[in-house]
Amino acid sequence: MRAFVVLYIFLFTHLSQAASSSPSASHSKRSHSLLSRELSSRAPAPFVASAWYSSWHSNDFPLSAVSWSKYTSLTYALATTTKDVHTIGLTASDKQLLPQFVQACKKNGVRAILSIGGWGGSRYFSTAVATAANRDAFAKAVMGVVSQYQLDGIEFDWEYPGLQGIGCNKVSKTDTANFLLFLQTLRLQTGAKNLIISAAVTPKPFAGPDGNPVSDVSVFAEALNYITIMNYENWGPWSPLVGPNSALDDSCAPSQLQRGSAKSAVKAWTAAGMPAKQIVLGVAAYGHSYFVTQSNAYNASHQIHPYVPFDKSKQPTGDKWDSTPVGVDACGHKNVRGGLFDFWGLIDAGFLNADGTAASGINYDFDTCSQTPFVYNPKTEVMVSYDDAHSFAAKGEYIKTAGLLGFGMWEAGGDSHDILLDSIRSALDNVISVRVD
Ligand SMILES: *[C@@H]1O[C@H](CO)[C@@H](O)[C@H](O)[C@H]1NC(C)=O
Repeated sequence: MRAFVVLYIFLFTHLSQAASSSPSASHSKRSHSLLSRELSSRAPAPFVASAWYSSWHSNDFPLSAVSWSKYTSLTYALATTTKDVHTIGLTASDKQLLPQFVQACKKNGVRAILSIGGWGGSRYFSTAVATAANRDAFAKAVMGVVSQYQLDGIEFDWEYPGLQGIGCNKVSKTDTANFLLFLQTLRLQTGAKNLIISAAVTPKPFAGPDGNPVSDVSVFAEALNYITIMNYENWGPWSPLVGPNSALDDSCAPSQLQRGSAKSAVKAWTAAGMPAKQIVLGVAAYGHSYFVTQSNAYNASHQIHPYVPFDKSKQPTGDKWDSTPVGVDACGHKNVRGGLFDFWGLIDAGFLNADGTAASGINYDFDTCSQTPFVYNPKTEVMVSYDDAHSFAAKGEYIKTAGLLGFGMWEAGGDSHDILLDSIRSALDNVISVRVD
C-alpha cells in the first residue's frame, strides 16, 4: 500500500460522521435473511462482503456506526509483528477496543477477523517465519490471540514477503517460501482447522528469491481460505502523472500507463494458481489528490482527463483523516502529507454533493478504461482520482462475472451513508442469492 498506509496508522483526527442509512426495505430484508442463513452454517461463507475497521478512527467512526447487516465479515486493523516472535503487537487501546469489536461482530452475525501487519507493522514478519522454531512460536502466538479474543479469522497483511515495504523491514529471499511453511504450521494448530486464514496481497503474486512474482501460488491456495488483493495505490503522488488510484482495467490504457488494475491483478494471481473463487477484491473508499494547473488539467475540448502532470511540491491537504502526523514512522522517518480524501471527505470538501455526484463548479470525468472517476476544482487547481457509486457498481459486476469471492473495502468509515457499499452490494446481490439457495 506504499507510503500512504503509514498515514492511516498515525491519523488520530476527529470527525463526527452521521450513522449510515439503510437501503430500501425489501432489498435489505432479502439480503439480510440470506446472509443469516449463510452465516448460520459452519462452512466458510460462500461470499465475502467485508471492510477494514480502523481502530485509530474509532472516535469518529464508532462500532455503532458500522452497517453490520451489509457485511459478512469485518477486519480489525491492525495488530503488528514485534521483535518478540511470541508476542503479537496490540496497543493498550487495541486491548480495550478489540473485545468490543468482536462482541459487536458476534451480536450481528458478522465474522470477526484481526489483521496483522500493514505498512508500519510488517517489520518482523521475515524473522517470525524464518526458522521452524520461530514459525511454531509465531503460530502459537497467533492462536493465543485468536482464543483470547474469540476471533473467527486472521488476516496476514505482510507488506511485503521478499520485498522491502516501509524501509526498515527485515527482508529475506526465502520470505515467500517461509510464509507458506508458516501458514501450513498455523493450520495444524489446535483450533485452527476452521479458522479463516487470509492474506492481504499486492496486485502481483508474492515475490520469489529474485524479487519477481513466483509463478506458482497453488499451495498457498490450500493453506489460505482466500487472498484479498489490495487493488489501490496503483497511482499516487509518487507516480509521474495523475492516474487512477484503483483501476478496474488498465489493458485499454497505453502500455506505459499500465500500473495495475483489478483485472490484471486477478489475471496474474489466477495464472499462478490462485482460484478466482478464493480471491476477494480490495476496493477503495478514498482517493488521492494532486495539484494540477488549469493548463494541464484541460484538453483541447476543455474536459479534464487522467494522466496529466501535477506539481509534487504543492501536495494538497486531504480531509480530516489526512492530517499530517506529528512525528515519525516505524522506521524513524518523518511522516509526509499524503493528500488522501475519504469518500465522505470529498463531500465535506465540496467536490461532491451529499448524494456522491459532482458538485456544481467541479469538473468530472469518468475514465472509461479504468472505470474510475476524476474530479477537478478549477479554483484551487486540485484534481482527485477516487471511486464513486459508478466505479463500485462496475467492480461489483466484475466480481460477479469473474466469479471472485467478494469484496473488502478500505475502510468501513470512508464511505458516506453507504453510497459505495450499497452500490457494490446491489451489483452482487443476485450472486448472493444464487450461491446460498
Ligand atoms: C478530452 O478528454 C475527454 C475525457 O477524457 C475525452 O472524452 C475527449 O475525447 C478529450 N478530447 C480531446 C480533444 O482529446
